[in-house]
Amino acid sequence: MQEKEKQIFEDIESLVRDNKDRDEILKEIVKVLKENFSYYTWVGIYLLEKNELVLGPFLGKPSFHMRIKLDKGICGAAARGKKTVIVPDVNADPRYLACSLETKSEIVVPIMKGEKVFGEIDIDSDKPDAFGENDKKLLEKIAEILVEIF
Ligand code: SME
Repeated sequence: MQEKEKQIFEDIESLVRDNKDRDEILKEIVKVLKENFSYYTWVGIYLLEKNELVLGPFLGKPSFHMRIKLDKGICGAAARGKKTVIVPDVNADPRYLACSLETKSEIVVPIMKGEKVFGEIDIDSDKPDAFGENDKKLLEKIAEILVEIF
């Protein structure tokens, strides 16, 4: 990870280990990510409840997709595939559940322990092809420590 990502990870790590309640931690993580990366135009955390992803804290334009069935969307694909999905051009991906006209690309990182998925971090950008290895590494590391609070 680069210096900036390393610092952000350390901040989030101490947040997670801080004894606050889970909702508060998730809310603060969303805020830290949204504030530190200008190309993250929408940041949200979905939690898996039975066979639906339910939207928790988010920042960005309001979302239409408060609940997403596991067989729908890029979010559903990431949860079913149990791995990070990066979509460089959402308009070229038939799985995409349109949310905001400004969204051009997206990354979805599952939060899981072993094979069990608890939820996911979903980030949209108004720039096409915005997400790369740095984002993936940082978000996967955050997802990895996040399972501690589930
Ligand atoms: N793009 C997602 C829907 C949620 S919005 O990005 C907030 C999807 O296709 O699953």
